Amino acid sequence: MFKSMIRQPNNPITQRVSSFLPIYLESLVIDSVLSFDLFIKLGREMVLYRSKQLAFTDNSRRKLLDNRVEKLYVPFTAKHEYQKYIESNLGKIIQDPFIQEEKKAGIIYEASKALVKDVLANPSLGENIQRSKDMVANQVSYILKGREAFLNLMRITSFDYYTYTHSVNVCTFSIALADQLGIKNEANLKDLGLGALLHDIGKSKVSERILNKRAPLNRAEFEIVKKHPEWGIDAVKDNSLISEDARYPIIQHHERIDGSGYPNGVLGKHIHDFGRIIAVCDVFDALTTRRIYQDAMETFAAFRIMYDNRHEFDEKILKEFTALMGPDDRIRKA
Ligand SMILES: [Fe+2]
Ligand SMILES: [Fe+2]
Repeated sequence: MFKSMIRQPNNPITQRVSSFLPIYLESLVIDSVLSFDLFIKLGREMVLYRSKQLAFTDNSRRKLLDNRVEKLYVPFTAKHEYQKYIESNLGKIIQDPFIQEEKKAGIIYEASKALVKDVLANPSLGENIQRSKDMVANQVSYILKGREAFLNLMRITSFDYYTYTHSVNVCTFSIALADQLGIKNEANLKDLGLGALLHDIGKSKVSERILNKRAPLNRAEFEIVKKHPEWGIDAVKDNSLISEDARYPIIQHHERIDGSGYPNGVLGKHIHDFGRIIAVCDVFDALTTRRIYQDAMETFAAFRIMYDNRHEFDEKILKEFTALMGPDDRIRKA
């Protein structure tokens, strides 16, 4: 059955499964020309299904669906081409009524993670910041579809803590929370989302040894970690693509209402709304994801800790965040 779908049935290119990136069939836009080869998995083999530069047609998609193929594979060596393709087509994918909403959420989440990995590898690169802005615009347009869209994203958020997954989670939480708080202006939501996605980029300067340490950090190590908000701001200081408002999440996400935060110990009323919003989302995600040295907490346990320390947060924002996450406690369970 599959053989009829393969372009070169007499000479299939087969390779090891581990060197491929699985992709959703729905991430391929009909009639778009691809700049990467597509493979399908037959048993334990990867077989070339479609060579690059061939348009992906409605007929191609239908045949694959008829054969119950939901995932295709792109060689890791072409992952950047695939990433660029997704980023430039994400707007169309989000609006496509024939794609299930859950699949859209998966495509957005995977594309966002891949993007943040690139940003962390090169935080000052203007192109990466433009890509981040475009990604956040897509996140905003998806999340504004309503609660079900937010829940779709929540269901697939990673419970393993990496700076890139954490950055995407915080971005998603913050846009939905701002919407819940009544911030309806899309330009504001995009500024907040961009700042959220980039809030920890200063960690790109902190060594892996410190970031992945299994034991508690010693004083000297913690002093280094505490520099990451300033290093983050420094990385983007010459970039005019980032508005002033979008910079607050980067510099203020570890500031606390009672003045106990860092890097500047800013007191309550001097912390920008975006700094307050990200502080809540940041701590919640850190508590509810698995670290090398600690298990993920469930939603309720995380909120208990945050309410015990409510003097550190803007209480109104903390309450609205509880309302946002609370009724669907089960969606944030590791
Ligand atoms: Fe941070
Ligand atoms: Fe963070």
